[in-house]
Amino acid sequence: MAKASSRYVCQACGAVYARWAGKCDACGEWNSMVEEAAEPVLPKGQKRGGGRHIDFVGLTGMSAPPPRRTTGIVELDRVTGGGLVPGSAILIGGDPGIGKSTLLLQATASLARGGKAAYISGEESVDQIRLRALRLNVGDAPVMLASATAMRDILASLDSADAPDVVVIDSIQTMFVDNLDSAPGTVAQVRASAQELIRTAKRRGFTVVLVGHVTKEGMIAGPKVLEHMVDTVLYFEGERGHQFRILRAVKNRYGATDEIGVFEMTDGGLVEVANPSELFLADRRQDVSGAAVFAGMEGSRPVLVEVQALVAPSPFSTPRRTVVGWDSGRLAMVMAVLEARCGVEMAGADVFLNVAGGLKIAEPAMDLAVAAALVSSLTGVPVPKDAVVFGEIGLSGEVRAVSQMDTRLKEAAKLGFGRALMPARRKKAAKGGVDIEMTELAQLSELTLLLD
Ligand code: TYD
Ligand code: MG
Repeated sequence: MAKASSRYVCQACGAVYARWAGKCDACGEWNSMVEEAAEPVLPKGQKRGGGRHIDFVGLTGMSAPPPRRTTGIVELDRVTGGGLVPGSAILIGGDPGIGKSTLLLQATASLARGGKAAYISGEESVDQIRLRALRLNVGDAPVMLASATAMRDILASLDSADAPDVVVIDSIQTMFVDNLDSAPGTVAQVRASAQELIRTAKRRGFTVVLVGHVTKEGMIAGPKVLEHMVDTVLYFEGERGHQFRILRAVKNRYGATDEIGVFEMTDGGLVEVANPSELFLADRRQDVSGAAVFAGMEGSRPVLVEVQALVAPSPFSTPRRTVVGWDSGRLAMVMAVLEARCGVEMAGADVFLNVAGGLKIAEPAMDLAVAAALVSSLTGVPVPKDAVVFGEIGLSGEVRAVSQMDTRLKEAAKLGFGRALMPARRKKAAKGGVDIEMTELAQLSELTLLLD
């Protein structure tokens, strides 16, 4: 008889191997394999003919969808697509110490004032959480608080008709299912715990919010398995040294995925930032070279940020390229186009690029702002201080139109900018009454001339 043996499971993608290996063949991750006891085989009696017939129904016939539960934290509600959907599962990932517990305790407290909300922590004791609640000024909210890690107990408490409306599990890595041998935090445990919680949430109609820690390599332990299981995946990110925190939706079955919520970490907890542009531009020094204000879009919301560049002669044979908040491949492309199409020499120089405020930009629309900051740093000519810059750059040096130009212009005008360096607009007539001078650029070389 075959002996029940152990198996090796990749903690990054969940692939199973009979032998340990340094690298997972399925996802290419190194050092991600952990030994686990072999799982019991599926229950018997699943062969054909043993099942019950399911009922098929039509698409029509739904009663009105249950209302979403708004948390009262506007930035959080926006990112979730307008509030928490009953019966859904949300995963909030982020580095340790970024503020996940703080955000969720504030949200739970706010939800508890309008319904039943539970906060189950596997990381902190009840008194620690009470202390935190006092500091956050929500010490009197009727939150159902518990410190527990055994899934058996948690499920027994939640699987009843008077289950809370919202349950926060902080964090899913501390939970364990006692009929599995592997340690808490392994893929098997995380997956089994999440599965049971999600199943109970669907049956009882509560929203379950799972907190997930991100490992050093930037992944939620068992990331792929969890991301597929939940309805919504949010990431809470930000630079440790900065006070800004950004909540970003990366998957959402009930809303758009490009929305962000901006918070500021203060000594009284997380405070919503209604107008991020003002905050991101607060420390801006005007009239210095090597900086440009980019008029960007984050989801449906325009956000102005400052891009800073430093181009300096390099003491090394291989010059350094350091990028914070943007894609380094995209920087290489902008530099190559500047060299090839505009004759701007940067090959022997160290280049540093930084998006101020700790925001990460993914839009190609930032190309032109990056080019402006680079050229300005090189020539020492400041970008006009009342100008915003946006536009995508093509490989032949052309400046391409980007989406939502009117929204960007309106935000810039609102914050007192008088000028925009931007792509040519197709519909010249349709000008929505924005009081801003538009300098339309067709070629990148027109920008380098401006800053010469
Ligand atoms: P926390 O929510 O515990 O992070 P996570 O759950 O993501 O691990 O946040 C901890 C950090 O937040 C800690 O460094 C202290 C800081 N903090 C404040 O600055 N102000 C506050 O009011 C609170 C509660 C925390
Ligand atoms: Mg925490």
